[in-house]
Amino acid sequence: MDSFFPFCYSITMDTELPTIFSAKRTSFVRTSVIREILKLTVENSDILSFAGGLPNPHLLSKDILSSVMESVVKDHSRFALQYGDSSGYLALRTQITEKLTDVPWVTSDSISITHGSQQGLDILGKMFMDEETNVLLEDPVYLGALQAFSPYQPNFFSVPMETDGPNLYWLEEILSQNKIHVFYINPSYQNPSTYTWSVEKRKQIATILDEKEVILIEDEAYRYLDFLGNVYPSVSSFRERNDLTFVLGSFSKILSPGFRLGWAVVPEVYRSLFTAVKQGNDLNSNQFSQVVVSQLLDQMDWTKHLDSIQSYYYEKQKILSSLLKEYIPEAKFVVPEGGMFLWVEFPDVLQKEMMNQCLASGVAMVPGSEFSQVSKLSSYFRMNFSFLEKEEMEVGVKRIAKVYRDINT
Ligand SMILES: Cc1ncc(COP(=O)(O)O)c(C=O)c1O
Repeated sequence: MDSFFPFCYSITMDTELPTIFSAKRTSFVRTSVIREILKLTVENSDILSFAGGLPNPHLLSKDILSSVMESVVKDHSRFALQYGDSSGYLALRTQITEKLTDVPWVTSDSISITHGSQQGLDILGKMFMDEETNVLLEDPVYLGALQAFSPYQPNFFSVPMETDGPNLYWLEEILSQNKIHVFYINPSYQNPSTYTWSVEKRKQIATILDEKEVILIEDEAYRYLDFLGNVYPSVSSFRERNDLTFVLGSFSKILSPGFRLGWAVVPEVYRSLFTAVKQGNDLNSNQFSQVVVSQLLDQMDWTKHLDSIQSYYYEKQKILSSLLKEYIPEAKFVVPEGGMFLWVEFPDVLQKEMMNQCLASGVAMVPGSEFSQVSKLSSYFRMNFSFLEKEEMEVGVKRIAKVYRDINT
């Protein structure tokens, strides 16, 4: 892989040994530039990072968390400190069914708790993908899905994205010319583009996928991060083919990624297989976290909590948008409806040069090509706004502006 860190960091292996003994599939394992940048920013605290997708840790009330933790230790340790059901803690599955999904056929039996939605991606990759599988992705696509699916060596196809969802002409072309088995989508405030599918496209595409008998993996990691509190209906809720429909959800962006908890809505015919694959991974998801999250869901004012996250991120988005407009008016981006990112085009720069010079100037963003199988997004960068404080963002944007001007003079 082409490294973005020529001056300080190498992500190649130190010896030949691992490649001699490693399984063939390991040559398809992708590294994540985002994780490398995160590591770099931890090592060098002078780097201001717009790179991570880190939710703000202060948005979860520490008072409620402390009292819940205490009660879990005192009153629920018999099962919180024990192995648990591989498909997850029943009370939590029931709460998810009631509060956090709109798929009409869901019951607590359809929910499987996972270690983050990332584990759901890996399990579904293991269940459905090998060299013969044709997998359709959005372009750009969530990098973690590429990391999860790539070791299974499927054939990837990419559909170009518009601000309101996939380009329908290309979607129909791809589906009519190839037998697509799986379509992976992230339709609300997508990572990285933040594009959000319109309700109309959700309905149309659900019908097309039914007709073509395509397995849908709908990733809802950002579902509740709409700045105005809207919640879009899932694409899955418009499908007739329940048996071909998987939905992944996550507590990472609405509570904390520290719990490492997410869930998968799994059709009945695949439940025992999904659970068996999960058992091979980890037997069951962190039982202690599950009990804590379940108690939190019971005790928190959920509407108020979501409201505070949404309005906080909305404010941060406005700050970064206006800083970019002020210091780099040439930068192009669509103001998102929700999420944690801006997807910014810096015209007339080579991504690699811009990236290296930004890092050398003490500021980090993620290059857009990381999120593409077809790699045409050469002057795009993903910028996170949920983590840095206002003053840090201003310094960071000024550093980027200087790099941009230096390259363009
Ligand atoms: C689109 C998307 N899906 C899934 C994940 C994985 O999240 P987690 O495993 O924390 O639930 C992320 C994390 O950033 C994401 O952006």
